[in-house]
Amino acid sequence: MNRKSALLRRRFEEGGILRIVGAHNGLGAKLIEKNGFDGIWAGGLEISTAHAVPDANILTMTDSLNAAIAINEATSLPVVCDCDTGYGNASNVMHMVRKYEAAGLAAVVIEDKVFPKVNSFIPGRQELASIEEFVGKIQAAKNAQQHLDFMVFARVEALIVGWGQEDALRRARAYADAGADGIVIHSKLATSDEVVAFAREWKRRTPLVVIPTMFYGVTASELERCGFQMVIYANHGLRAAMRAMDETFRAVHQTGSTAAVEDRIASMKEVFEVQGMSGLKDEEKRFLKKGSIQAVIPAAGEHRGRGFNELLADRPLCMLDVCGKTLIERQMDLLRSCGVNDILVVAGHRGDKVAAEGATVLCNDKHDRTDIAYS
Ligand code: SPV
Ligand code: MG
Repeated sequence: MNRKSALLRRRFEEGGILRIVGAHNGLGAKLIEKNGFDGIWAGGLEISTAHAVPDANILTMTDSLNAAIAINEATSLPVVCDCDTGYGNASNVMHMVRKYEAAGLAAVVIEDKVFPKVNSFIPGRQELASIEEFVGKIQAAKNAQQHLDFMVFARVEALIVGWGQEDALRRARAYADAGADGIVIHSKLATSDEVVAFAREWKRRTPLVVIPTMFYGVTASELERCGFQMVIYANHGLRAAMRAMDETFRAVHQTGSTAAVEDRIASMKEVFEVQGMSGLKDEEKRFLKKGSIQAVIPAAGEHRGRGFNELLADRPLCMLDVCGKTLIERQMDLLRSCGVNDILVVAGHRGDKVAAEGATVLCNDKHDRTDIAYS
């Protein structure tokens, strides 16, 4: 059973509009989850741009799957994957569904264009598959999935190519009849009129999904009132990051230091938080066993005579600086280079001055009455 698919299905059954956001890596997924969204869109546009290649099936299915897996591993939210046309014909779709489902991804979306596709907002070559061919792909996808929960969405591109509402509805009905778990109706208009008109005519129970990249003025509540059950904010993390990175690099290049951008960028503390560094430290405490070899460095005694008195007036011998490093640092470096990391330093005379980072420092209070064996 795929836990994320079950989760996504449950969320659809609960009602209300789901809001999911595009990511191309684990970092994006974490920030989307932190901000309270319902899921992640592993979008072709984001993943292609992150690889600096056009959104035109230049990346392979495996490239996209690997990105989706990295996203999925970073979040507890369900990940809905943009699988373009399914990477080929119905046989490619079956292979794709098996791989995505087995990887624990919640859902795939396939669009009724011809492989290789081009992003829907690029004028020119936008070829659609026939209804029959795409119905075959949906049936193939639903046959290939192992568990009932896995969701296959069909994306209708008829409005993108200007074929009108009737064709869009005919296609959507055929895809729903073929078993699609949801219909994504895509539009490139600057207003939501087209998708709202489509939703008005949609009488099926199959959920409607929308991607308001171009008609960004519409709110999620308005879309919900029109009958949409999921909205995909497909690329806003990517576009925000692009602008922020570009401005940062420009400022650093122009000013010659990073001081000018420091208050505009994430702090190192925030970076470590997103990484999960505190979790790693907790795990280290539990599981990282120290090596069995412990070294004891006796450094308690007071050294006198032969020119030491002046040099050691305010410090113990182990804190004597030799060419920029103290004797104790040199001893510890040598031990650590041999794999001995559990180091105990026994201090005594001027013990308060002993600086032995990473070592345990104990004090022999009776150092003036005892000898090295006692330490
Ligand atoms: C994507 O994010 O890859 C999409 C949505 O397919 S859009 O680019 O808005 O067409
Ligand atoms: Mg896409």
